[in-house]
Amino acid sequence: MRLVLLGAPGAGKGTQAKKLIEKYSIPQISTGDILRKAVADGTPLGKEAKAVMDRGELVPDSIVLGLVRERLKRDDCRNGYILDGFPRNTAQAEALDKMLSTMAAALTVAVSIDVDKNDLMKRMTGRRTCKSCQQVYNIYFSPPKKEGVCDKCGGALFQRDDDKEETIRKRLDVYEAQTAPLIDYYRRKGILKSIPGTGSIEEIFKKVCNALEGK
Ligand code: AP5
Repeated sequence: MRLVLLGAPGAGKGTQAKKLIEKYSIPQISTGDILRKAVADGTPLGKEAKAVMDRGELVPDSIVLGLVRERLKRDDCRNGYILDGFPRNTAQAEALDKMLSTMAAALTVAVSIDVDKNDLMKRMTGRRTCKSCQQVYNIYFSPPKKEGVCDKCGGALFQRDDDKEETIRKRLDVYEAQTAPLIDYYRRKGILKSIPGTGSIEEIFKKVCNALEGK
């Protein structure tokens, strides 16, 4: 399965991707996670990306496409993968199609997780992530047992720099203008499945799996 997960910032793409990895034994390729690691490692790419990400804008296509091209060449992608947060605009989607046509391995499905704007704000302002194991929590919907501490590994929880209200608004605007048109892009290709993203994480996961399995 070669899957693209679409959805606004905070729609739950990362949360669902983690569960899909376990069920289908294919890797998640999150351009956001790759970029955040580069920022944390202080690499030149990370330094370039940080300012853009903190403004809630998109990192230049040339950077992101290079990262994805390298990542797709790795052995663990042979049986498929989950693209999370990529592509982000039509230029990236077209470049991806081109890249995959040279590998004779077109995308098989695109799943769009649709969530109301008010819910998105709460999901993002409430998100906390473990510094050590990257487990994601939400102070409103799925809080850790002890405030600020990861249930799984005891690591410290932090709030993403781009999860401030003002930056979230910008990210939502960028999504509407640049990423939402990809829903039609994949609909026209006949591979789109739209899932209502309200309900519990488990309920949504069930709907995603049903869509993937044609139920
Ligand atoms: P990226 O990391 O991709 O962020 P995003 O698309 O804005 O998505 P998020 O990670 O915020 O949300 P998500 O949908 O994964 O939600 P999650 O599962 O965590 O990108 C960050 C930045 O990097 C971009 O702004 C850009 O600058 C750059 N970038 C990345 N890719 C790029 C690209 N291709 N091109 C250019 N630039 C790029 O869930 C959110 C919260 O909600 C969590 O707390 C979770 O616990 C909770 N939650 C999830 N599901 C539910 C539920 N059903 N009910 C209640 N709470 C829930």
